Amino acid sequence: MIEDTLLALFTPEGREDPYPHYAALHATGPVAPVDGGLVVVSGYEELQQTLREPALEVHDATFNARNRKEIAGLPSITVFADSMLMGRAPGHLRVRRLMAQAFTARQMASLAPTVHRLAADLVERLAGLCADGGSADFMAELAYPLPVRVIGELLGIPSADLGRFPPLVHDLGKVMDPLLTPDALTAADRAADELLAYFADLVAERRRRPQDDLVSALVRVRDADNGRLSDRELHANLILLFVAGFETTANLLGNSVALLLDRPDLQDALRHEPRTAEGYVEEVLRYDSPIQLTGRWAVGDVVIGGTAVPKDSNLLLLLGAGNRDARRYERPGDFDPARPGIKPLSFGGGPHYCLGAPLARLEARTTLPLLLDRIPRLRAAGAAVRGDWITVRGFARLPVTGAAR
Ligand code: HEM
Repeated sequence: MIEDTLLALFTPEGREDPYPHYAALHATGPVAPVDGGLVVVSGYEELQQTLREPALEVHDATFNARNRKEIAGLPSITVFADSMLMGRAPGHLRVRRLMAQAFTARQMASLAPTVHRLAADLVERLAGLCADGGSADFMAELAYPLPVRVIGELLGIPSADLGRFPPLVHDLGKVMDPLLTPDALTAADRAADELLAYFADLVAERRRRPQDDLVSALVRVRDADNGRLSDRELHANLILLFVAGFETTANLLGNSVALLLDRPDLQDALRHEPRTAEGYVEEVLRYDSPIQLTGRWAVGDVVIGGTAVPKDSNLLLLLGAGNRDARRYERPGDFDPARPGIKPLSFGGGPHYCLGAPLARLEARTTLPLLLDRIPRLRAAGAAVRGDWITVRGFARLPVTGAAR
């Protein structure tokens, strides 16, 4: 029964290893209607179609007002509803075009030396902790600090303020998880209020004294084009960049390293041929995606992969399952960085395709060779601890050791 498989997926065991449950869903069919208007999409091609179908929309303010009335007005819910992640055409495209200026190939090329410097500093520190038989938590020492510092640089957040962000962003991000508890919701609201106040102050400060950073650039756009980008939208989208780019990238780094720990062959390949990091990272994204799922709702009747999806259906898009679809990839459960034609669904697709994908890739491709160059034989130093989300897949703790060079 599909309901049983879904329930199993949401248990701690299912979170630890969702892949057998995804295989069970694939056996049921790539698009599976469930009682109560829910439709589960797990097939690779069907997910591609779902992400691009104009009659399937993100969970925007209208969806919240209809389906999540009791929480629709809370700060943690409205901050996302005001951001492009939950924005509908045509407003979505307008805001996305503005924000996309920060993620062009040229911007990435100019950010690359900064990413390299920040990653090298953190690798150096980790190597110091691992020297002389020591060990360190890769998540705390590198995976979490790196994306925070990189987004901080991009936005122009004073480095003294960056330490505040990880717990706030973590708490706020949890409203995106289907396993949201009342306590987590309260913490998310508190985090939303604090982040909104922080960004309102920062925007006011950059308006007074502009700098060479994204916040100042967006303030300029906002003020030159009065009314098209509201202050609410500006604050919400600045917060979105942090939330969308932090835990996701941290877990891409963590999942990449976890897969290396038992594999000296993969470590050697990355150390000797840093260019292979590109294929390695793509296969990590496919094999163990840091984002496992997202959602949509049907604003009209549609047919996905031959299955009728009636108006008002709520769709669960299992991106992590699509990445393991045997109709798309041979031996989907094998980790093989040399496999041809890897096109993971991990960054979504269509109009909401992840804006930060080039940045996340840059961070992971830069860090892995640096890490293995400094610590040539990276090993586990105790049991890894899984994070307790279902949307975000990765580790809360990942202890590592290895002699530094
Ligand atoms: C491995 C790391 C990352 C993963 C797996 C990831 C995944 C995703 C996914 C799946 C979506 C689409 C959600 C949907 O369509 O429902 C998305 C959207 C987005 N991501 Fe990422 N992301 C990552 C890193 C980043 C970074 C580093 C940033 C920016 C600093 C970022 C910014 C965004 C933004 C702004 C959107 C919304 C785009 C829109 O709605 O038009 N992401 N991401």
